[in-house]
Amino acid sequence: MTNEINRRTIETRRGPMSWFETGAGWPLVLLHGFPLTAEMWRGQLERAPADWRFIAPELSSALPADGVRTIDDYASDVASLLDALMIDDAVIGGLSMGGYVTFALFRQAPSLFSGMILADTRPQADTEAARIARMRMRELLTHDGVKAVADDMIPKLLSDRTMREQPDVAGRVRAIVEMNPPRAVDAALDAMMRRPDSTPDLPHISCATLVIVGEEDAVTPVAEADAMHRAIERSALVTLPRAGHLSNLEQPEAFSRALADFLLAHL
Ligand code: MLT
Repeated sequence: MTNEINRRTIETRRGPMSWFETGAGWPLVLLHGFPLTAEMWRGQLERAPADWRFIAPELSSALPADGVRTIDDYASDVASLLDALMIDDAVIGGLSMGGYVTFALFRQAPSLFSGMILADTRPQADTEAARIARMRMRELLTHDGVKAVADDMIPKLLSDRTMREQPDVAGRVRAIVEMNPPRAVDAALDAMMRRPDSTPDLPHISCATLVIVGEEDAVTPVAEADAMHRAIERSALVTLPRAGHLSNLEQPEAFSRALADFLLAHL
């Protein structure tokens, strides 16, 4: 039996915020990656561990009229959502871009964190080469739309093995990506290319932390996850076999098991 998943929207002091939610108990907040939506957590929401209230915010829901966002803005939106829900602390984390937002939220409000999840992400800012690639992707988006971004990114996000052996996963990722309005994709690219380096924050993360990475992640490889794990004192590292960058979508059961084991053991 899978959990009932509800889609909710609330007015916060920073505008409307939408999220998926299931379960009741200790709050667990997971932030989605780029160029996806909160829909990417469906497999984990369906398998949410007992005694946890699992919240998956939609980072683009509070997009302002000018369409400009920073990673700090996304973090402030999440803080406003938690405030509106009267949540004082939670296990908070995210995958890839969701991890960048997690680091920003930690800088803004470290006391919100009773635990942290860092999945397939990195603390460093974009390199110059990465910024140039982001500019190219923004041009591609302007000329050819979200579908072209999906064509470009899906073979990088998923491992070669997943592309070969699980074509349904590639189809599902494409469907999620194509749900995104172009202005949300553009705002996220702009925010990511301007994000600061979070490496100096790692030694200050004192809550229990799960670092999780797909063994075949080509975007944020195992070596980077391992370095992050070594810099965060109370962290555990889990490497998921047969998964690339979107480890929670490529190996949903193994990802959910690692999450549940961590929550049970550390909190
Ligand atoms: C993501 O999965 O969120 C993206 O790969 C992050 C990025 O492009 O830096």
